[in-house]
Amino acid sequence: MPKLGMSMEEGTVTEWHVADGDRVEAGQILYTLETDKTANEVPSPLAGVIKLIAVAGRATRSVRSLPNSNTDLVADEQSLAPPPSAEVTVEPLGARIETRDGESLIEAAWRSGFYWPTVCGGRAECTACVIRILSGGEQSPPPDAREAGQLERVRRRTGETAAIRLACCIRPAGTVVVEKKGVRRRLR
Ligand code: FES
Repeated sequence: MPKLGMSMEEGTVTEWHVADGDRVEAGQILYTLETDKTANEVPSPLAGVIKLIAVAGRATRSVRSLPNSNTDLVADEQSLAPPPSAEVTVEPLGARIETRDGESLIEAAWRSGFYWPTVCGGRAECTACVIRILSGGEQSPPPDAREAGQLERVRRRTGETAAIRLACCIRPAGTVVVEKKGVRRRLR
């Protein structure tokens, strides 16, 4: 808990401004912290993903017992650390897309001004975003159970034997080359 003044002994989180699992930027207001003298909105010290470990109104903590814990009520260091970014080449278009801060490939493509085939809007439901991994990708986190199930359905339906992933699920790392027909630059 941050120390808001010389005389502060303890404080209470009276309101969270973010929800568990929210992605936040450094400086974004996370919670309101009240002491016997003041109330302050406390910003995030880092960009990352929120992992709530205290309930608003019940999180009264002694400052002295938590000397270095600006992030104590917010998130652990690991969950706030941005995952590695990647440079993804999308064939046959030859588009270069850079991912940031743990974005999925489809999110990075949208941010970079590309159209990417989808029906479900990136919710891992339609499999229209499926990609073939041509090279790289070893550093990317593996599919979770939901994505793995969808990929299995795609393989059964199409007979695909190559390495495939869902663009809305993969959070690429390193240098990756993928194949996805239908990707194109959006008209501005
Ligand atoms: S966009 Fe629908 S499954 Fe990925």
